Amino acid sequence: MSAPPPPPPPLLLLLLLLLLLLLLIPIPLASSSAADLAALLALKAAVTHDPDGALSDWSAASSTSYCLWRGVTCHPSSLAVAAIDLPTASLSGTLPTALPLPPRLRRLDLAANNFSGPVPDAFLASTTLRYLDLSFNSLSGPLKIPPPLANSSSPPCAALTHLRLAGNLLVDQIPAEIAQCRSLRVLDLSRNVLEGAIPRGLGRLAALRVLDVSRNSLTDRILVELANCRELAVLVLTNLTASPGEQPEFNAFVGGLPTEVLTILALEVLWAPRANLDGRLPLSRNGTCRLRAVNLGQNYIAGSVPPWFAGCQGLTFLDLSSNNLEGSVPAELAIGCLTYLNVSGNSLWGPLLSSPESQCSSRLIGDDIVMQYYNELVGNVLIGSPFGSELGGIANVALHDFSNNGFSGALPSLTVSLDRNCSYGLWLNGNMFNSSLSARFFGFCKVATGVAVNLSSNQLSGSLDMLSSCISVYNFDAGYNNFSGSIPAGVGGLHFLRSLVLRGNNLTGQIPGQFGDLAALEILDLSRNSLTGSIPLHLTGASRLEVLRLDHNNLSGSIPSSFSELAQLTVLDVSFNNLSGDIPNLRHPADCGFFLGNSRLHQCLGTNSSLPPTEAISSSKGTKKWGARFKSLMVILVAASTAVICFLLVILLFFVCERRKRVKISNLRTKVVVTFTDTPPELTYDNLIRATNNFSIQNLIGTGGFGATYKAELAPGFLVAVKRLAMGRFQGLQQFDAEIRTLGKIRHRNLVTLIGYHLGESDTFLIYNYLSGGNLETFIHEMGSRNVSWTEVHKIAVDVAQALAFLHSSCTPRIIHRDIKPSNILLDEDLNAYLSDFGLARLIEVTQTHATTDVAGTFGYVAPEYATTCRVSDKADVYSFGVVLLELMSGKRVCSCSAINEAGCSKAEAIGK
Ligand SMILES: *[C@@H]1O[C@H](CO)[C@@H](O)[C@H](O)[C@H]1NC(C)=O
Ligand SMILES: *[C@@H]1O[C@H](CO)[C@@H](O)[C@H](O)[C@H]1NC(C)=O
Ligand SMILES: *[C@@H]1O[C@H](CO)[C@@H](O)[C@H](O)[C@H]1NC(C)=O
Ligand SMILES: *[C@@H]1O[C@H](CO)[C@@H](O)[C@H](O)[C@H]1NC(C)=O
Ligand SMILES: *[C@@H]1O[C@H](CO)[C@@H](O)[C@H](O)[C@H]1NC(C)=O
Ligand SMILES: *[C@@H]1O[C@H](CO)[C@@H](O)[C@H](O)[C@H]1NC(C)=O
Ligand SMILES: *[C@@H]1O[C@H](CO)[C@@H](O)[C@H](O)[C@H]1NC(C)=O
Repeated sequence: MSAPPPPPPPLLLLLLLLLLLLLLIPIPLASSSAADLAALLALKAAVTHDPDGALSDWSAASSTSYCLWRGVTCHPSSLAVAAIDLPTASLSGTLPTALPLPPRLRRLDLAANNFSGPVPDAFLASTTLRYLDLSFNSLSGPLKIPPPLANSSSPPCAALTHLRLAGNLLVDQIPAEIAQCRSLRVLDLSRNVLEGAIPRGLGRLAALRVLDVSRNSLTDRILVELANCRELAVLVLTNLTASPGEQPEFNAFVGGLPTEVLTILALEVLWAPRANLDGRLPLSRNGTCRLRAVNLGQNYIAGSVPPWFAGCQGLTFLDLSSNNLEGSVPAELAIGCLTYLNVSGNSLWGPLLSSPESQCSSRLIGDDIVMQYYNELVGNVLIGSPFGSELGGIANVALHDFSNNGFSGALPSLTVSLDRNCSYGLWLNGNMFNSSLSARFFGFCKVATGVAVNLSSNQLSGSLDMLSSCISVYNFDAGYNNFSGSIPAGVGGLHFLRSLVLRGNNLTGQIPGQFGDLAALEILDLSRNSLTGSIPLHLTGASRLEVLRLDHNNLSGSIPSSFSELAQLTVLDVSFNNLSGDIPNLRHPADCGFFLGNSRLHQCLGTNSSLPPTEAISSSKGTKKWGARFKSLMVILVAASTAVICFLLVILLFFVCERRKRVKISNLRTKVVVTFTDTPPELTYDNLIRATNNFSIQNLIGTGGFGATYKAELAPGFLVAVKRLAMGRFQGLQQFDAEIRTLGKIRHRNLVTLIGYHLGESDTFLIYNYLSGGNLETFIHEMGSRNVSWTEVHKIAVDVAQALAFLHSSCTPRIIHRDIKPSNILLDEDLNAYLSDFGLARLIEVTQTHATTDVAGTFGYVAPEYATTCRVSDKADVYSFGVVLLELMSGKRVCSCSAINEAGCSKAEAIGK
């Protein structure tokens, strides 16, 4: 037996360790650091603009210390770059396709910069990258996932858990190869220009938690394979909250949401408003439901409201509005526990049962990413509540909307589970409730800080006395019911009351003077009742009053002159009563229509009071303005004694007024503008007419075979182009509707966007987005005098070619343009080209009374075989495009004749040129 060797002294051990370390580190260092440095410098080289100097310390001179560069993080044990974080750094430049990545990079965040070009190949080919965020740049082209290498054990993209590409300009389909990114947990492709279907392969992403594909141009069915993503917690198919100027939602799917997808066990947030979904919702489901927020509003879903929603303990947001749902609201549903319930605009019926006195389960907090989506999506809806930002906000408002259904019976008594300081909105309007107001109905007033209730257009009766008990009421609308008796004097205690609408009931007695105590009151509408007595003097104590409607009652006496003290009062309508005396001097110009029908009232001066009240609003204002302008003009003109010009002006004025009148009369019946996208509220028929100055020549920006186009600024910065179709009556209105709706769905970045249309008795127009750069015809014309670079010309040509290729081969239905010419190609400020007038030839053809067999198109651009045979083919478009190319390259025009049907010049002449 020998003794064991003595243990090495600790100093020696330490030395050995140090040596080992020194030996170990430099080995990976040497090879990887060069690649890291090269990759970082390549990224820097791609940046052409760095106004904030974010990359100022990124330089070859300090290359040994790149781990200290701004935004760069290295692996702790080596000099390999682990992360690059440069979000919101104002960087711009084009990322080259072959941009390399540091070999061991795990995280790359370049969000909210201004990078363009395609997503570089190496980004999605990386086998180490886990987190990639390129959202809100200007990346373009299709998304390409590189194929797996035969000899490699880990396929490209396999490590990626987060892929965020929202807010770019990515086109084409979502690649099926996305299935290779098998670790993906978060996939955000929203706000791009992606088309086609959500690929089947997505179902192979077993770890996926979040999928956001909203605000693209996706179509097709939602495939059942998606349900294989068993971990899916957030599914966002559409998103309607776009701020002005943002691209709206164009996703329009086909068919229904598969049951399997709706019942994914992990699903917590399902967001698909106005997604063109139909079908029915499953009536049963197995397993625990974890849904928190479901938005399927504004679809075409039929059938009944699934009772199993009642079993979703965490459900706080449910929007099924504007669908085709029938039946009753499931009795088990704990309505009081829902922060937001909207079933308005369906065909639901039956009594609305008082919700069970249920204990709302304490709402469990989900994981961060789910709650982030929940808060953002739900928050955006609640911001639009009637309480505004004042009392709104996600934490403290509850809204229940049952309006426009067929609910009947007694008003429900909903026990709302509200936090202490919370506002509550309840919409029951447009139903058939037929009870009276009860204390139980107003139960929520005791809990809520602010209350808005809409009961209008029901069959409610009895007295309004209970209203005075709801101290916290802000808005109350009980118009168009059968309420009777007098208005309770107790309303004087409702100090928060801002809007009270009781029009169209059977109220009698006097108007309580106590309204004058209400400092918050802005709108008071008591019209169309049987109120008697005089207008109380004290009413003018309500100093914020903006709208006061007392018309169509039996009021007598005089109008208090103190109305002249109300600074905000813009509408005072007392027409059709028995008032007498003088009309007070109001702060805002009064309309004589508001005083009509009071035989003993002194005459309303200065305006024409023979028109019915509503008509009078616009026209009397108009004549007044014109009159004043006319007078002052006369003075100036007479002084200048240019009688000839004066005479001409009179004629002009006459014409303008005449035309105005004519348009007004002819369009009284159908003044609807149908829109395909989310549009600002300013887009109405009247505003369009106003903004184009009634299609005045000053607003004319182009004429073409199909009609003239006018520019209209509907609100500051919101411009549209209005194309007035120069056609006779349309015969097949339904056909027109169908055709135009198809056109409305077609989106491509080189096509003008059809925003909406108006189909009237005498007037039909299409509304497009307005492009400020004029048309290509002008551009070609001015090419000689301005410096146009070859790149610009090339880009325009490519843009047009892409639009044409899309119309011919990618869009459904395929479209042959038939009138490609420079004046149909529009430009924006950045010289992006957009093709317009697509699909109009067909639209006109299928809907005109006498279908023209004429060749649509323009001399000089029409392919010879098309002109002679009238047979339409995509080749004819290509021929026309060739002519446009020739013009674009030579800067010379082909033929100055206009559309073939109007053209006076003969064929020989055109060819001669
Ligand atoms: C983004 O880059 C383009 C050029 O690539 C430039 O015209 C544009 O102004 C930049 N936008 C911002 C917000 O920096
Ligand atoms: C895999 O094959 C590619 C070419 O097919 C080659 O460039 C690469 O070096 C190979 N990789 C390995 C780990 O063999
Ligand atoms: C929906 O759109 C709004 C407005 O653009 C945006 O702020 C929000 O992040 C979007 N939400 C999702 C989940 O895409
Ligand atoms: C629920 O489970 C039962 C029994 O396992 C099955 O028969 C039924 O089809 C399931 N229902 C749904 C909606 O999945
Ligand atoms: C309910 O949905 C409809 C449209 O679907 C919408 O107009 C209405 O404002 C919604 N109600 C509330 C309270 O948000
Ligand atoms: C209720 O909340 C609002 C704003 O959230 C706050 O200003 C107000 O003081 C609160 N009132 C009470 C009684 O807590
Ligand atoms: C209004 O009430 C009176 C009785 O007060 C009744 O005779 C009358 O029919 C009611 N009118 C309507 C339209 O309900």
